Amino acid sequence: MPDSKVTAIAHPNIAFIKYWGNRDDALRLPSNGSISMNLEGLTTTTNVRFNSLLKEDLLTLNNKKLSGPALERVRTFLDLIRSIANKRIFAEVTSENNFPTGAGIASSASAFAALAMAATKAIGLNLTEAELSHLARHGSGSACRSIPDGFVEWYSGDQDEKSYAASIAPAASWDLVDCIALVTIGHKEVGSTAGHRLANTSPLQTARVQDAPRRLDICRSAILKKDFQQFAEIIELDSNLMHAVMMTSTPPLFYWEPQTLEVMRAVRNWRGQGIPVGYTLDAGPNVHVICLSSDYEKIKHNLEQMSFIQRVIIAKPGSGAVVLSN
Ligand code: PMV
Repeated sequence: MPDSKVTAIAHPNIAFIKYWGNRDDALRLPSNGSISMNLEGLTTTTNVRFNSLLKEDLLTLNNKKLSGPALERVRTFLDLIRSIANKRIFAEVTSENNFPTGAGIASSASAFAALAMAATKAIGLNLTEAELSHLARHGSGSACRSIPDGFVEWYSGDQDEKSYAASIAPAASWDLVDCIALVTIGHKEVGSTAGHRLANTSPLQTARVQDAPRRLDICRSAILKKDFQQFAEIIELDSNLMHAVMMTSTPPLFYWEPQTLEVMRAVRNWRGQGIPVGYTLDAGPNVHVICLSSDYEKIKHNLEQMSFIQRVIIAKPGSGAVVLSN
């Protein structure tokens, strides 16, 4: 096989209905379906070059050669692609994020979405969007949601092949803005892979999962109808439910800082005053404050008035993962 080099680009995503806990940890088959929005402007750009002279896979992230668990995770993922392509050839992977690492913006979603796109193309596979999403899920669950465009739903699926994500509305369909309020930068937390394994130790997880289809329906219809009030209420409930599970796991996971709660309260107050705004949180203390593009400058300004907020990153609905060059 001649050397082939492909670059792909993917955005991280913010979940509105969260994925937390797996039915099968090894396959990353989620306990419940989820809904998210890709984040425009924040990107992972990944170049993959399969080279018959290489003796092993190599990984460079943000100009740093990586070894250890990060490299192992990428190798396991490339093994999967090699087995689908039925080829035994190693790759040099070079990846760059344009957003700060340690800022609490999950980079594994954009990382594995971009890697799935670039590596499959480079090895000569031509997969459909659903197949790419299904494949990316094996690298990081939420990565399957960074493959399709805009507002995306990940179907939990009753078996491996049926668990993938698809777009429910294009990025341009609703002019939402995510104002990501960074409360802490570079805080060390329990990562999501370890966190998912603890979900079932919480007695609240069963109730959260059982009620998920209802929340998915409400969130999906709010996005399609552009009903902000319905949308804000369901995303806040869903985020609170996930954090309730986290806090009641054994051992408990407390991702909130006192300032996190302060931002959440401020957001609810602003909504009480008539501004369409709502919050959601990932596995970290930073708050994703979601509003309409007509209000984002005001919301950003309000957030920047809070002395403890280190930075506010702005992201609009983003496109799906794409191959840049061949
Ligand atoms: O894909 P993972 O394993 O990084 O898990 C993502 C978990 C959350 O970000 C907390 C929720 C979600 O649905 O994105």
